[in-house]
Amino acid sequence: MKYHINKELVVLVGPMGAGKTTIGKILAKELGFEFYDSDKEIERRSGANIPWIFDVEGEPGFRDRESLVIKDLSQRKNIVLATGGGAMMRKENQDYVSRNGFIIYLNTSVEQQHNRTHKDRNRPLLQGDKDAFQVLSELFESRDPIYREVADLVMDTDRKSLKSVVKHIIDSLEGRETK
Ligand code: S3P
Repeated sequence: MKYHINKELVVLVGPMGAGKTTIGKILAKELGFEFYDSDKEIERRSGANIPWIFDVEGEPGFRDRESLVIKDLSQRKNIVLATGGGAMMRKENQDYVSRNGFIIYLNTSVEQQHNRTHKDRNRPLLQGDKDAFQVLSELFESRDPIYREVADLVMDTDRKSLKSVVKHIIDSLEGRETK
């Protein structure tokens, strides 16, 4: 084994556009873990895309599906799990991932979140009449303290290369750095 880490579940949390999927895939490959994305898994299991689920079942319907997926995936071993930006707002989801997981908050400026999401039509919370930057700012305001609270590692990603973010995470997983 290339790395000596004592966690079999690595969980990425943080806002839309934080790079959870991109970083998660690289990290999983590096660790020899499988990569899962809770949004993708919800879509796979329901056979519908996220905007459709929000449309038909509303946000509560989506959140129930999300909790089921997180409950299930957080029991797996040797995986990196990227969670949707709102997933940690439910206490039960925090509990599922905290049980076995090492939780990393990918902290990203609202500017960066906006740059990465503004062309995307797959995120219902950013599609309304309200300005997307404003929505991201408000979400950040309310969610940042929760991400911090649940995280074992807070990783600032702005102005850092993917390589250095992944290296820093692995150092932390190997116990070379702490919170
Ligand atoms: C959401 C984030 C999205 C997705 C859904 C709701 C949120 O995931 O779960 O659109 O509440 O912030 P990403 O963070 O992967 O974009």
